Amino acid sequence: MTGATLSLPLYCRGKVRDVYDLGAHLLVVATDRISAFDVVLPTPVPDRGKVLTQLSAFWFERTRHLVPNHLVTTDFGAIVQATGLKPAQAGWLRGRSMLVRRARRVDFECVVRGYLAGSAWKEYQKTGSVCGVQLPTGLEQGARLAEPLFTPATKSATGHDENVTFEAMAAVVGGELAGRLRETSVRLYNYMAEHVEGRGLLLADTKFEFGLVGDELLLIDEVGTPDSSRYWDREAYRRGELEAFDKQLLRDYLERVGWDKSPPAPELPEQLVEELRTRYLEAFRRITGREVEL
Ligand SMILES: Nc1ncnc2c1ncn2[C@@H]1O[C@H](COP(=O)(O)OP(=O)(O)OP(=O)(O)O)[C@@H](O)[C@H]1O
Ligand SMILES: [Mg+2]
Repeated sequence: MTGATLSLPLYCRGKVRDVYDLGAHLLVVATDRISAFDVVLPTPVPDRGKVLTQLSAFWFERTRHLVPNHLVTTDFGAIVQATGLKPAQAGWLRGRSMLVRRARRVDFECVVRGYLAGSAWKEYQKTGSVCGVQLPTGLEQGARLAEPLFTPATKSATGHDENVTFEAMAAVVGGELAGRLRETSVRLYNYMAEHVEGRGLLLADTKFEFGLVGDELLLIDEVGTPDSSRYWDREAYRRGELEAFDKQLLRDYLERVGWDKSPPAPELPEQLVEELRTRYLEAFRRITGREVEL
């Protein structure tokens, strides 16, 4: 199932999440949809939404001492009660939904990078800098940065986010808030990177979203999932392999079948879906040390 339609007012439907409007609270439901190259695939990956929700919940709880966040509860009973849904309709929500405080979203992605990868690597090759920050010459793909770098990006409605300088972000949200966003993001990154290093992983980079309720700054959306974060196996990194827990497998398949990256995307073979599912469950296990509740 790629998502159930609930008899609740829809707040927004993202590529992955269906968000319902409960007034001061939102119900965020992570479906099993998966996207690649900004296009949602027609084939869902079973239980992926549960991994995303439960991993976000893990990090929200772990990082509460660093910054308040939007999580109210992931408890199924409490969610059923808050929505007023009949149990028959609510079953699908179990393990994949989160009641959160509704916030005014800050329309920037707060990215922190400890290593040179992804769009930062591309930018560095062209300009020698990332989001206006000059880096030493001669860095290789995957190089560890001297210190974590805050590299904000716009959240564009079209889905193609664009890296911007800290100053450009400050010009929109104000210097004071921009400073708080940077400081909070770097603190979160440091905490998360240290946690996963103890579990044999490296956090190459990660993205945060923030929102405001009144003057209070909240961490919102998802945190520390393979969709928002690039995790590498530490031993593989030492051998020079930079394979992330993310959708590389899926991207490789789509390249192989020669899909032109414009919708509709092709259906995925059963074996690939099963392999992706296994990888998400494995990512959860490696990061948290426990099993996803299915
Ligand atoms: N507490 C919150 N208050 C308001 N909006 C939120 C909150 N938490 C998450 N959101 C928003 O809900 C949506 C979640 O959907 P999803 O992550 O699937 O979207 P997406 O396809 O990634 O699109 P987007 O580019 O908007 O992130 C996002 O737009 C996110 O910014
Ligand atoms: Mg999102």
